[in-house]
Amino acid sequence: MQQVYEKLIQSLLGKGFGSVDHWFSTSEIQGLRETLLYRYSNENFAIAGIGNQQNLLKEKSIRNDRIYWLDNNSHNEFEAKFFQELNRFIDYLNFTCFTGINSYEFHYAVYEPGAFYKKHVDQFSNDKRRKFSFIMYLTEDWQEGDGGELMIYDENPIKISPEGGRIVFFMSENVEHEVLVTSKQRLSITGWLKTS
Ligand code: OGA
Ligand code: NI
Repeated sequence: MQQVYEKLIQSLLGKGFGSVDHWFSTSEIQGLRETLLYRYSNENFAIAGIGNQQNLLKEKSIRNDRIYWLDNNSHNEFEAKFFQELNRFIDYLNFTCFTGINSYEFHYAVYEPGAFYKKHVDQFSNDKRRKFSFIMYLTEDWQEGDGGELMIYDENPIKISPEGGRIVFFMSENVEHEVLVTSKQRLSITGWLKTS
């Protein structure tokens, strides 16, 4: 895994974000997707808000995905494996970059056709604990033209398609990004590595 970690870290240091495709296996991705969809049909996915507790504005003109916060100690085998892999990455990141990450929060996100998330940064103005954003897409069989790309506003904006298994990693403080309108159900597990 060291090569995958290095690719993510080196591109983050170089341009503020990195992306890799072959960290999790096809069966792990499939398992996570099925777990997400099982929870989606059996549990309550909240309308996502913007801002944090002190500043909660449910603003549907800014984003209209639905989210479900994961239990970091989940006993579901696929979620547990996800967090196990994530913990290894965090150990590597802390060891090589002295980042001091000591907590995280992750949610599933479902963007139904027509959903989007306008340009924003992930760090709250009144809470700086979110240091890195980490997304793994779980979309099934994404095709060119399905929309829902992640736009990252670098000097040259780049578009990342939300293909199952693709991971994106970026600085939460200052990387502006947007989710373009999707025309197909778009699935992800999205979270933040934090210092408390
Ligand atoms: C977010 C976000 C991007 C994506 O949840 O803050 O920007 O590609 N997600 O899902
Ligand atoms: Ni974001």
